[in-house]
Amino acid sequence: MTDSAALKRAAAARALDFISDGMKLGLGSGSTAEAFVELLGARVRGGLNVLCVPTSERTAQMARALGMVLANLDDVAPLDLVVDGADEADAAFNLIKGGGGALLREKIVATSSRRMIVVAAASKLVARLGRFPLPVEVVEFGHATTAARIIRAVAGLGYANTPVLLRKKDAAVYKTDSGNVIYDCAFGAIADAAKLAAALSCVAGVVEHGLYVGIAKTLVIAREDGVEVRTESTAPA
Ligand code: A5P
Repeated sequence: MTDSAALKRAAAARALDFISDGMKLGLGSGSTAEAFVELLGARVRGGLNVLCVPTSERTAQMARALGMVLANLDDVAPLDLVVDGADEADAAFNLIKGGGGALLREKIVATSSRRMIVVAAASKLVARLGRFPLPVEVVEFGHATTAARIIRAVAGLGYANTPVLLRKKDAAVYKTDSGNVIYDCAFGAIADAAKLAAALSCVAGVVEHGLYVGIAKTLVIAREDGVEVRTESTAPA
């Protein structure tokens, strides 16, 4: 196992401490969330009884293969807990998510859950969000015009000349599980995540963006020398 894989697994293993029998759980997407799903699968095989809502087709496939019971979100919401990864997290628990393209379902599940726990290696902690290009999910129809509207909307907030790139995979336009496309927006340092989030949400054609403001309450952060659990009350000022 690489160092990076070991850190992801360590964070995922610590997150298992938050799980109890009978819970309704959201299952995140991405490699760290998958490490959690794998470990949870072992607990399920050992008799743990949980009902799971996956945030992507890929996670759903994995969870099914591990014998987990899956449910439709509408049938079981609100969920007790969602465990998911992040591309960046700041000291105020704001996040950038969506590097894996699952941001829409991830955010729907996170905001349908009583608590969100983020599992991540310490490399995901940043002083200020924005070095990781922010994924913005956009309806395919007229998507280039939506990209132009995004550029105009953020220019007034001090993000002039932001590179806004249509995501591709294997030379084809990347499509999300919901059939939309993604623009990765390289804002650089984001001065006010809430303000940027509000501006992006107002753009016609934008379905969702990967900024999480005030959604995550707990970070489980793995370092070489151990795993730190940070909650809002224990966070450094
Ligand atoms: C998936 O769309 C993302 O939000 C992931 O949660 C995020 O990219 C973190 O992924 P890793 O755990 O693979 O770094």
